[in-house]
Amino acid sequence: MSQPTIESILQEHRLFHPSAEFSQKAQIKSLDEYHRLYEEANADPQAFWARLAETELHWFQKWDTVLDWQPPFAKWFVNGKLNISYNCLDRHLTTWRRNKAALIWEGEPGDSRTLTYAQLHREVCQFANALKHLGVQKGDRVGLYMPMIPEAAIAMLACARVGAAHTVVFGGFSAEALRDRLVDGQAKVVVTADGGWRKDAIVPLKEQVDKALADGSVPSVTHTLVVKRTGQETHMQGDRDHWWHDLQKQVSADCPAEPMGSEDLLFILYTSGSTGKPKGVVHTTGGYNLYSHITTKWIFDLQDTDVYWCTADVGWITGHSYIVYGPLSNGATTVMYEGAPRASNPGCFWDVIEKHGVNIFYTAPTAIRAFIKMGDEHPKARDLSSLRLLGTVGEPINPEAWIWYQQVIGGGRCPIVDTWWQTETGGIMITALPGAIPTKPGSATLPFPGILADVIDLEGNSVGVNEGGYLAVRHPWPGMMRTVYGDPDRFRRIYWEHIPPKEGQYLYFAGDGARRDEDGYFWVMGRVDDVINVAGHRLGTMEIESALVSHPAVAEAAVVGKPDELKGQDIVAFVTLEGTYSPSDALLKELKQHVVNEIGAIARPGEIRFAEALPKTRSGKIMRRLLRDLASGVEISSDTSTLEDRSVLEKLREG
Ligand code: WT7
Repeated sequence: MSQPTIESILQEHRLFHPSAEFSQKAQIKSLDEYHRLYEEANADPQAFWARLAETELHWFQKWDTVLDWQPPFAKWFVNGKLNISYNCLDRHLTTWRRNKAALIWEGEPGDSRTLTYAQLHREVCQFANALKHLGVQKGDRVGLYMPMIPEAAIAMLACARVGAAHTVVFGGFSAEALRDRLVDGQAKVVVTADGGWRKDAIVPLKEQVDKALADGSVPSVTHTLVVKRTGQETHMQGDRDHWWHDLQKQVSADCPAEPMGSEDLLFILYTSGSTGKPKGVVHTTGGYNLYSHITTKWIFDLQDTDVYWCTADVGWITGHSYIVYGPLSNGATTVMYEGAPRASNPGCFWDVIEKHGVNIFYTAPTAIRAFIKMGDEHPKARDLSSLRLLGTVGEPINPEAWIWYQQVIGGGRCPIVDTWWQTETGGIMITALPGAIPTKPGSATLPFPGILADVIDLEGNSVGVNEGGYLAVRHPWPGMMRTVYGDPDRFRRIYWEHIPPKEGQYLYFAGDGARRDEDGYFWVMGRVDDVINVAGHRLGTMEIESALVSHPAVAEAAVVGKPDELKGQDIVAFVTLEGTYSPSDALLKELKQHVVNEIGAIARPGEIRFAEALPKTRSGKIMRRLLRDLASGVEISSDTSTLEDRSVLEKLREG
């Protein structure tokens, strides 16, 4: 089992059609219907999105302009007013959904909770009032550093309700990483928990928050709001820290949703790029609400009685769009699970599916590969017959894993939607619509209606059928990121001027390599920049290098990805040491731990190689492609003639 190779994928010709029964009941029922929608959107994108905004969302005030496009800056539904928490909650309360399960939560040690729409609404209103009590106002930013518990979703919706932007920081990030993000977003309040379960251990989240805030290093933060989850002793600091269960008793459950402008900031989510620190991806209210809503509805084919489960963490965009906002805006039942696949509980996902009768299941290739390794006996021992649709996201899926997923988990009857998208895109961009588009293992298939995706060369020209190129989007869409928080220039440079605009035509550059086959199907090959994808987690090689060189022993570091059977890619770091240090196992361990402290466990290098020198060009640039080949143990494919000192290569080869 491994990453798909170009050869294996070029040989992949199997085509899987949805069953007639599935298609008949589906939101989008046929390829013809998909083509009609795609054509409708293509012919008049603004009319298409306006039609959906009108029929799918509740507006306090209608927009006057659908799209104001000043490349690369877009405004959607200009002057419209709405609130995404209203669309996710209030509007369902006057319907039969009032007492429908909104959120089914499965805790790691076996506890569980179900909140109906009425109950979730009440909790969100109380939480919103607690935030107000701590001084949070419309326009503020609130940091969330949470375990996978209902309060994570509640806090997000509460922020949206009062008009404060949330910036969720994945609970696996270190105190340092949390601090950087809080500083950049100038958060006023941090919402956290005493601790959270991660696999079989408790992560003391509040303690990490204390570290991040130590010595007034985040001056914007005035308060923390702490949810009791794990119950261990937790230090609370005077006026700064507040228990949620204390405030909950004091606040009212009445909190009308703040009318927000379509383009008011909804959230910031940090993600890695080629250079510099992680960037704050900005999403705004109206366009994001519409795009996450309609993609969830059509791609996951939501039906009224479905139980829908996305296994992501709310710390990532997948959790934002496809655990919280998309499903709730549609009035669906969304499952949230605190656990994670691990050897000590190899049946955990299948238990959740059986227990809650999950119908729609959305996970990552890295999880699928881990389960394949744990053995078929675990899923086979559970009743998975409730499943009717499967999804995958985060990295290319190798055809073997796709087929296993289809057969062993889906019992051969469930369509699979392989969904390509990014933090920046807000929602899914290239995917099958399960009742309409036949699938090919390893291909994300076709663009969502309204998405003008293309594969291009560096001049911006479409490449030919089956030729490799760069994934790009030719027209703005409602869910697109609006800017990099505090750095519009970086936004322009990275995404919209990477391909120099011609005659005012701006192209969104995704950073992925891709190919389009004779049926127009997209095959995404992976990143073409210095971003690596480890177990579906996106990391910039430069961030890890910065973490390494911040250790006193390290003179220089170069980080590359190498193919990994389970995780897709693994991190390999080449390190040269300062004069007084010499290589040792102890130092190796220390450096790995140092990266964990600086960024988080997801960035722990799988391998660190000590080197006397790094291969550089005469102009002093590290030759990463060469290091990638070395790390992967393959023949050096790049031109080594520009290498400044050839003996460096020989020494690296000798190890
Ligand atoms: C990168 C974005 C938003 C989803 C979670 C990751 C890779 C994502 C696929 C897919 C091949 C995929 C791309 C992309 N990716 N989905 N179905 N097939 N590659 O979001 O952390 O912003 O990462 O994930 O390389 O650029 P993210």
